[in-house]
Amino acid sequence: MTEQDFISKTSSKHIESGSVTWDSPSNIALVKYWGKKENQIPANPSISFTLSGCKTTTTVSFSKKESYQEYAFDVFLDGDLKESFKPKIETFFNRINNYLPFLKNYYFKIDTVNTFPHSSGIASSASGMSALALCLMSIEKMLNPDITEEYFNKKSSFLARLGSGSACRSIEGDLVVWGLHNKIKDSSDLFGIKYPYKVHENFKNYQDAILLVDKGEKQVSSSVGHGLMHNHPFAEQRFEQAHHNLSSLIDVLKVGDLEAFINIVESEALTLHAMMMTSMPYFILMKPNTLEIINKIWAFRKETGSKICFTLDAGANVHVLYPEVECEQVVEFIKNELVAHCQNGQYICDQIGFGAKKIV
Ligand code: PMV
Repeated sequence: MTEQDFISKTSSKHIESGSVTWDSPSNIALVKYWGKKENQIPANPSISFTLSGCKTTTTVSFSKKESYQEYAFDVFLDGDLKESFKPKIETFFNRINNYLPFLKNYYFKIDTVNTFPHSSGIASSASGMSALALCLMSIEKMLNPDITEEYFNKKSSFLARLGSGSACRSIEGDLVVWGLHNKIKDSSDLFGIKYPYKVHENFKNYQDAILLVDKGEKQVSSSVGHGLMHNHPFAEQRFEQAHHNLSSLIDVLKVGDLEAFINIVESEALTLHAMMMTSMPYFILMKPNTLEIINKIWAFRKETGSKICFTLDAGANVHVLYPEVECEQVVEFIKNELVAHCQNGQYICDQIGFGAKKIV
């Protein structure tokens, strides 16, 4: 499919007003997306677990307006008007206007609530942008009822990508690939697809405990972060490595090789941070407590033979990944050893989820 396939036909229906609500989850990448080309095209393919409990619920209410010159919308977070969110949404609308021609015809009231604290370092842009894209696609479907479910999901992911790259991996579950990869059938730079191959039982209901190490505002925004990969001395090797790691994961996921899974996932997390440490300007996004937690995870694994591992996003928080069968012992370990390194002792226990859901 190409971008052209996502340009809408003229709508067959006239609708004055309405409202739609979607729940959309966050996701955690196993092979990381870091670096992009123009129009939110990823520099390398990535794969993620869709989460379950960490999600955004967004309601978009819309009503026809008189003039079709400008966008008209208001955004509310937890019921409070957020003027500061407007520029990001305006940019998003500008990027998707070509694909959703009704955007200037309506006034939109966007009401959004997250299950996790805003700016906690949990990717609210992934759940938030995917929830908004899905709401807008539902309006598109009201106007063009013959849209198929497959097209709906692809176009929602395509639009979400234009809001925030990783958001395109939040539409479906449980494993999603985004970015062209020669061994993954139907993979695309334009949207995320459900991972199409066999996944071993070991990875069913995989757990993710998110340890909130530093809830401060991001030191480096992700757009600045991706920009650091332009002219980065190790960029080409890194992009190649991501292709290679994704190839290796195909077999690892099939046979349920947890040791190999750990090696790939932890190496990906550290490489992401290594890219930031070796860019110009350079950044260290880990905090001392991030390293304390990583060292304790390694010691625990060595002592107990547990298959626990960690991954990181572009921040200090640690995602602790582990198989469902280890739930009891790992939660004990987190409470006894890791909570001390979390800001205000905060952590969130989540697990793999199955994608976004339409509520109304
Ligand atoms: O979607 P963005 O532009 O916020 O980028 C997110 C990038 C990482 O979270 C660091 C990695 C990933 O693949 O999710």
